[in-house]
Amino acid sequence: MKNRLYLIIKVNTVLVLILFSAALVCAKSDKKNAIRQRIAFDSDWLFALGNACDASEDFNNGTSYFSYLAKAGFGDGAAAPGFDDRAWRNQNLPHDWCVELPFDSTAGHSHGYKALGRDFPENSIGWYRKKFIIPKDDFGRNISIEFDGVYRNSVVWVNGFYLGTEESGCTSFAYDITDYLHYGGTNVIAVRVDATMEEGWFYEGAGIYRHVWLTKTSPLHVDRYGTFIKTGFANGKAEVTIQTTIVNESDKTVSFGIEENIIDEKGKSVSTGSLKNLQIGSGASGEFTTSYKVDNPKLWSLESPTLHQLQTVIRSNGKVVDKYETTFGIRTIRFDPDSGFFLNDKNVKILGTNNHQDHAGVGAAIPDALQDFRIRRLKKMGSNAIRTSHNPPTPELLDACDRLGMLVLNENRLMGTNKEHLSLLEQFIKRDRNHPSIIIWSLGNEEWAIELDDLGIRITKTMQDFAHRLDSTRPITVGLSGGWDNGIGSVTDIIGYNYIRHGDIDGHHKNFPWQPGVGTEETTASGTRGIYFTNADKAYMAQGDFTSQYGGVEFGWKYYDARQFLAGLFYWTGFDYRGEPNPYGWPQVTSQFGLMDVCGFPKDAFFYLKSWWVDEPYLQITPHWNWSEFELKQIPVSVFGNVDEVELFLNDETLGRKTMERNGHLSWDVSYSPGILSAVGYKDGSKILANKVSTTGQPAAIKMSADRNSIEADGKDIAVITVSVEDADGLTVPTASNEIYFEVEGPGKIIGVGNGDPSSHEADKFLKTIITVDITELRELPVDGFNNRDETSDNFDDSQWIPAFTNEGDWRDYKDSIIVLRGTIDLPEFNDETEVNLFTKSIVENQTIYINGHKIASDIERDDPDQSYRLTHDILKQGRNVYAVTGKRFRKTHQYDEPNRDPGLLQLIYPAEQWRRKVFNGLAQVIIQSDKDAGSIQLSASSKGIKKATIGVESR
Ligand code: GAL
Repeated sequence: MKNRLYLIIKVNTVLVLILFSAALVCAKSDKKNAIRQRIAFDSDWLFALGNACDASEDFNNGTSYFSYLAKAGFGDGAAAPGFDDRAWRNQNLPHDWCVELPFDSTAGHSHGYKALGRDFPENSIGWYRKKFIIPKDDFGRNISIEFDGVYRNSVVWVNGFYLGTEESGCTSFAYDITDYLHYGGTNVIAVRVDATMEEGWFYEGAGIYRHVWLTKTSPLHVDRYGTFIKTGFANGKAEVTIQTTIVNESDKTVSFGIEENIIDEKGKSVSTGSLKNLQIGSGASGEFTTSYKVDNPKLWSLESPTLHQLQTVIRSNGKVVDKYETTFGIRTIRFDPDSGFFLNDKNVKILGTNNHQDHAGVGAAIPDALQDFRIRRLKKMGSNAIRTSHNPPTPELLDACDRLGMLVLNENRLMGTNKEHLSLLEQFIKRDRNHPSIIIWSLGNEEWAIELDDLGIRITKTMQDFAHRLDSTRPITVGLSGGWDNGIGSVTDIIGYNYIRHGDIDGHHKNFPWQPGVGTEETTASGTRGIYFTNADKAYMAQGDFTSQYGGVEFGWKYYDARQFLAGLFYWTGFDYRGEPNPYGWPQVTSQFGLMDVCGFPKDAFFYLKSWWVDEPYLQITPHWNWSEFELKQIPVSVFGNVDEVELFLNDETLGRKTMERNGHLSWDVSYSPGILSAVGYKDGSKILANKVSTTGQPAAIKMSADRNSIEADGKDIAVITVSVEDADGLTVPTASNEIYFEVEGPGKIIGVGNGDPSSHEADKFLKTIITVDITELRELPVDGFNNRDETSDNFDDSQWIPAFTNEGDWRDYKDSIIVLRGTIDLPEFNDETEVNLFTKSIVENQTIYINGHKIASDIERDDPDQSYRLTHDILKQGRNVYAVTGKRFRKTHQYDEPNRDPGLLQLIYPAEQWRRKVFNGLAQVIIQSDKDAGSIQLSASSKGIKKATIGVESR
């Protein structure tokens, strides 16, 4: 048995080679004719959790005698380029590791009881590493790495060089890495993310939860966020003013010209111009302003969000050295203190919602296509605006708002006038100021320490003036719960009212006749989707409080609609979000303020708003009609509709005809008996539409539908699948709670599941579990030859051996000596499905490796970087296993030479459990993402006792 060579698979080599050649090919083909490249840097990262309290569990970062703060390029531990990351998990971005963590009743309320933060140091540090090749001919270009957002407190190294720390979890930031790169070689980026502290009082995720980009330019180039386009429009003509900042990072003064071309939505050039004979000195930058007329442009509007492109070309010595594209929209905005908001001179009431960056299944790592999905859901309700409460959003949300026609109140995180806060505000405004969707900047929200006093007024004025200098085209607000008349609210361009109940809006308007006003927050009345009777034990809240002053969605809308001077309002919130699980707390883990749940399934308040926010005829009855335990008891029924009158029927017997008040809804108390509850809507005396809810039978089948049946095969695009449970007649069973199991075939995967249950502690993700086990207690024994060494077997008595590397002797009188080194691998439980990989490093010359006496590999070269072996289970056991190597002691080349003494480690990969989720009140959601291969992605769903379902999404 002893000499048998077991099945050992060399892992990684082939894959790594393929990846590297692909990266090279890709970089080459991208580069062809490219003056500027912005390369998506989201794929092929490696990820592992570190530790916020224990440096040895945090991959020994920052523990070296000379750390990265002592010597340039001394990034240590997991920041070192040569760090052994072979056992880390593959991870594409965007990524939120918090959503993968379990719930814990002792964890933070604000972030929804996820096991993250001070009490969970083992879950609160995330490490990311990525290897990338920079071609030789990139030498001479300017290269930077750009993060759209990392939550939070990130430290970045490239090739061991410390680049900086960014504490903010919602700002975008970049590092110039030109000087630190190996041109024509492999480079390593390492990012340590510390999510121990919270910035908000709501779920914020953890990790590199937005995109990363690698940008390559010529030394003379348009600056990051280097264009600012202002548009005006009158008498069929647009005036487009462009401010461009150019940077010269070369070592000489450069002469150049700028050529500009404005392209319309059809790709046609509509205005061009140039500036010639410009000069910028070495290391300096210059700002240049031009202005163009565009005849009869299509304007950016909510109905037709037309976008234009500006192409900026920089030419120097007859050669194009930069090409930069800016997307913008031609539109005008205006706020009037008496008549509200005007878009292109048309009065538009702002029908908005507040939203955090969080969705079922994926947490804060929202794929771009899911941003679109969320905006489409809001538009379906008739909403036309979003407030990015309470932080700068990911840029792709703003792109989606530009494309889909959604107004944005874009909010800064924290108020302050010191260097850090103003610099964050500057980044934010410069990054976002070309988005036509943005109509207001908000400097902050409910800053209770300063809302009410002079100090707050000073801070606000300084920030507002600063913001005006960066963008004079949009007004400034702050979301205020107090200080409307005598604090911050007395100086902002626009007063931002957080909740009617916090003051006297009419009075404020009278006293501040110059100041436009908007409802930055207004309450929706909390409620649980599909719930009509409160169950506090489960933290389920009845829906139905529409009219109270302290929470009614209807109260809020009537108030704002009745006042022309109010530009509009933003409800708290469009979607439920993790965290702020009020009013109950545990077991509740998400908020319930949303007009929709975390998946985007509508609640009753959504139906109410839709009835007054859309133009097409609309009629909706709630609740559902499955109340078997309520036979002959009174059920409160609501009807929403933009009609004059409604007649309600139960099983064809009339329950009366009522007149619908404008901006109201109708109520009946109906004595329950099963059947059909139907409503007929009348306008001008005629029936115009009808709707009904029916008592359903028992769950009989699963049904699935997709928001899009065809997606891009780019490894990023997603389809959102609605899963429902139906009775035998195809009616959704509104009380069903069946647990559904999911499986995917074809070129795609599931990235998250959800169901909108505010108290669900089910997993949103089902991932492989990776555990690493160190090789410990290394001891050594000198021996006289290599062959048939009993010392490598698992039961050999090594109790008399000395600790390894203690007898290295003086480096000057080195003699070739053969040794055996033995260590322990303490294996946890594993089963047939567990994959076990051994990742070794040479600790002797010509190393031969044994596990429990079984030879794994022989005669390995000292510098072989690829010592990776898949182990079969028959040579392993739970508990103590023996790792042994034979070989020659390393020769030291000089006194301070420290040959490697780290033997490597073992990795155990336990397969993921099958994806599953219960439907909550009949519904659940699955998000599937494409691979890079085209084909049909088949999602199948099964559950005990009911009919299975399959749905196909084409990935093209
Ligand atoms: C507001 C606050 C929001 C959210 C809300 C919950 O005062 O601005 O962020 O916390 O309360 O009711």
